[in-house]
Amino acid sequence: MHMNAESEINEKERFAFGSNWLNFLKSLSDERIAEAEKSLLKMLGEETLRGRTFLNIGSGSGLFSLTARRLGAKVRSFDYDPQSVKCTEELKRRYFDDDPDWEISEGNALDSEWLASFGEWDIVYSWGVLHHTGDMWTALGNVAELVKPGGALFISIYNDQGRRSRIWSSIKKRYNAKES
Ligand SMILES: C[S@@+](CC[C@H](N)C(=O)[O-])C[C@H]1O[C@@H](n2cnc3c(N)ncnc32)[C@H](O)[C@@H]1O
Repeated sequence: MHMNAESEINEKERFAFGSNWLNFLKSLSDERIAEAEKSLLKMLGEETLRGRTFLNIGSGSGLFSLTARRLGAKVRSFDYDPQSVKCTEELKRRYFDDDPDWEISEGNALDSEWLASFGEWDIVYSWGVLHHTGDMWTALGNVAELVKPGGALFISIYNDQGRRSRIWSSIKKRYNAKES
């Protein structure tokens, strides 16, 4: 049984990324978006995403959802953190207001029942997310199910570097304690 996202964030059991995304909105430029487009195409080995479907799991700021949509994909984004969802919605409002081909929601990569309603996607993209879910292997299994046969799953996960990772974890906890 998974706790409600807001209550977990309130209880500081997770890092609340959202407030950082709101700062990000202020500094987003056309150059930054153009760079994101180039990097996404390079990573996917494509020249366009026209006609493709792109599922962004743990969409964070929404920058790569925006990028995929600008490159022509039909996009669905979700994130566990309500503030990240708000940030993504703000990007949509700015660049693709009322666009039916970009859907955004709050949700959990561990919620397999909910994910079962998603169908299959050409590209499932989950960058820097699955190791934050609290159950990386279940999350990985869930998201892999959403890839169309012949489609692509793009993920990045961070490895545990022992002492170094614990130092970063304590820095992040202190930073978030100061923020709220
Ligand atoms: C390091 S950020 C990466 C954001 C984005 N993918 C990017 O590359 O900029 C991790 C994101 O994963 C989200 N996240 C953590 N656990 C999640 C879960 N169980 N389901 C969905 N999203 C989750 C966080 O809220 C956060 O936005």
